[in-house]
Amino acid sequence: MIALLGGALATRAMASAVPPPRVHIVPTADGGAHESDGAASVSWAPRSRIEPFRIKMVEPLKFTTRAQRADALAHAGYNLFRIEADDVLLDFLTDSGTGAMSCAQWAAMIEADESYAGARAWRKLETSFRRLFDFAWLLPTHQGRAAERLLFAELGGPSARFVANAFFDTTRANAEATGATCVDLPGTAADHAAGFGGNIDLDRLRAELATGGVTAVVITATNNAGGGQPVSLSNMRAASALCRAASVPLVLDGCRFAENAHFIRTREPAMASASIDEIVRAMSALFDVMTMSAKKDGLSNTGGWLALRDDALATRLQGRLIMTEGFTTYGGMAGRDMAAVAVGLEEATRPEYLEYRARTVAYMAERLVAHGVPVVTPPGGHAVYLDASAMLPDVPRAQFPGQAVACALYVEGGLRACEVGALMFGADAAEAAGRRELVRLAFPRRMYTQAHFDFAIEVCVRAHELCKAGQVRGMVITQGADSPLRHFSATMRPVDDAGADAGRTGAAGAGADVRAARGAGRGGRRGGPAPSGAPAGMPAEVRSGAA
Ligand code: F0G
Repeated sequence: MIALLGGALATRAMASAVPPPRVHIVPTADGGAHESDGAASVSWAPRSRIEPFRIKMVEPLKFTTRAQRADALAHAGYNLFRIEADDVLLDFLTDSGTGAMSCAQWAAMIEADESYAGARAWRKLETSFRRLFDFAWLLPTHQGRAAERLLFAELGGPSARFVANAFFDTTRANAEATGATCVDLPGTAADHAAGFGGNIDLDRLRAELATGGVTAVVITATNNAGGGQPVSLSNMRAASALCRAASVPLVLDGCRFAENAHFIRTREPAMASASIDEIVRAMSALFDVMTMSAKKDGLSNTGGWLALRDDALATRLQGRLIMTEGFTTYGGMAGRDMAAVAVGLEEATRPEYLEYRARTVAYMAERLVAHGVPVVTPPGGHAVYLDASAMLPDVPRAQFPGQAVACALYVEGGLRACEVGALMFGADAAEAAGRRELVRLAFPRRMYTQAHFDFAIEVCVRAHELCKAGQVRGMVITQGADSPLRHFSATMRPVDDAGADAGRTGAAGAGADVRAARGAGRGGRRGGPAPSGAPAGMPAEVRSGAA
């Protein structure tokens, strides 16, 4: 704990015959503070929340002009995945593997060994894992989707049926690749109202289990496909009881388990006095399997795992692990990555870190609402979502309003965000699923300061003003409309001014531009699968300041 007016200062003050400061201000772990004069304590809680770290290594940002960004965007075929990262000022494309590591993590990486079997770094990861999670088996993988591939290859197949609060894209893809069926059972309006919009619909789960045809149930916490909304502990407990009664395994997709635990602590009254570690242990005790991407709440740039209780299943999966990832004591990770995750798990579960993380997301959402920018509320744990349908009500879904807004954010201020709408899912599918046209700004962990967020807010406000002024036009796809996962690779251009595309055209200021056609020739690199998180039919409110 830091005493702002502490011992050394007080001693010097006495030596110079100036009365010593009487009050020490002592920050508390929850980001508040109390004063202490050594005898009696007086409560005092500063309103400011500060980043719970200081910076000792910096990475310069590259500043570009608006004209340079408009040109880069046109060259990239209006696809932000095809933009060079160096041409981005603030990158909100994903919170996955993009965060800053601590000095303790870097130190652990240097100290880590790279032994093939039984590495010290593996033991360190295992110890850190066992402090938090209650599973007998830990199978390390190179990232989350590798754990999903192992699990669903074993459990899936054409007759398998998986249900979830909402499957993340890669989870669904890995299950469906085996021929299995996946069904989302998102929470109700009452769940959202209670602050747990990530809950699974227990009535529908009960009905599914009653058919006897469910292979496994997945709970994604927080629910990325539902806007990063948390799942309550009571919802997990009820789902677990139903699954155990039906002898159906319950799987935790726990990429953001720590953020979820924070929301349980702050929103579920019965858990208010529990520690984060206690909540995580209580969560994990309810599940039979866990898949994890350590690129999120492992605070690492890579890594993941599959954790299990059942010996027979674990033994079979170990065989698959060795065949496709690596030996059981490193899986898909280098020793240094395992060490980074071991320390990252400890840091990601500190209350002051989680308080700062949640507060940062809420701060941006609140400021945007105050400026009248339509955003999904309440915000979840890792991202703010702009509602492009509300920002561009006159741009039809088939002209990708979300992509138009994402392009405007880039041209106006160098922000990179991710369209989650008709480009990602297809206009008809998005319509059928009742999805809104959204733009996700996902927050890399510990990377940006409050000034960066203030800047990002300003850019969003500016883009919204341009939308209102009719200066942000829809988009048409010039190439790759039918490719799988087309949002990574398709090229676009703003809708034509001449009326040929039956609409007004283009990202702000980028103009109808034949250079877009050149985008196919430059860059051309494909990203990995989906940084996404699509609130599908979620009843979360969309709020603007006018509302
Ligand atoms: N599950 C969830 C809930 C995720 O959000 C992700 C990744 C994965 C699984 C897959 O993990 O990337 O390590 O293979 N989400 C990233 C995102 C890509 O941007 O939301 P991975």
